Amino acid sequence: MPKHLISIHDFSKEEILKTLQKAAEFEENYRQPLFTDKVIATIFFEPSTRTRLSFETASNRLGARVIGFSDSDNTSVKKGETLKDTIKMVSNYADLIIMRHPLEGSARYASEISDVPVINAGDGSNQHPTQTLLDLYSILKTQGTLENLNISVVGDLKYGRTVHSLIYAMSHFNPTFNFISPEELRLTDEYRDFMYDNNIKFTENQLLKENIENADIVYMTRVQRERFTDALEYEKVKNCYSLDISMLANCKENMKILHPLPRVNEIAQNVDNSKHAYYFEQAENGVYARMAIISNLLTAQ
Ligand code: CP
Repeated sequence: MPKHLISIHDFSKEEILKTLQKAAEFEENYRQPLFTDKVIATIFFEPSTRTRLSFETASNRLGARVIGFSDSDNTSVKKGETLKDTIKMVSNYADLIIMRHPLEGSARYASEISDVPVINAGDGSNQHPTQTLLDLYSILKTQGTLENLNISVVGDLKYGRTVHSLIYAMSHFNPTFNFISPEELRLTDEYRDFMYDNNIKFTENQLLKENIENADIVYMTRVQRERFTDALEYEKVKNCYSLDISMLANCKENMKILHPLPRVNEIAQNVDNSKHAYYFEQAENGVYARMAIISNLLTAQ
């Protein structure tokens, strides 16, 4: 296993599958205080509910103690301390650092400075690899396989880091992607080129209802308001899709709707009780996937 988890590219197919197997073992038995002598730091320079709290739950379940911050305005960053010095300090205090930061590439940079493993909990619109591992765990649990699935990915494909990591991870499993977005939020060339280079089948569309009927997974995403430099551009696309219960009538029986959350209005509340809704269970799966990730990195030290 690699020393850090910065991009899902850091994991081979075998390492991904091994991690998902370990997540299943933790789900079976989550009372495993394996790391009572360890301190884990969660340092979040951007807001988070699920990622931070599920990492902290995972750390607590593993017996580790947790330090950190969820608002860098309450730290010496406010006085002008650099990311480099912050990481150097925290790596003196903790055995593992879990970091979310608005700048793309910041997690890789932190891993080059830190003396202890670093986990990328989201770096700008770049990557969110631990979300992807819990997404894959959710797909595997609901579909029984990761291979040969039809996956419709909907919404903000330009800025959505969970989408970017999902494309890379699923490339091991022969997916067929159907990307649904307004023109302004299409995938960038970097990801399209990756799929061309790796012979991954994909189509691009703008209509939602018509393009989810063959899907095994519908992966909804929020329009990432915080990544827009122009508020007017956000206003134009903010309500581009809203998945409603009436759109699900012709879907596959076992189709599951995933969403990394938080949602704004891209999934109507009337979908929540449908057999297709899986996003809240998906978020719970984050605890088991993150227990597996922490365990991998602390064991590899
Ligand atoms: N999925 C996700 O990253 O959620 P949070 O922003 O609440 O951590």
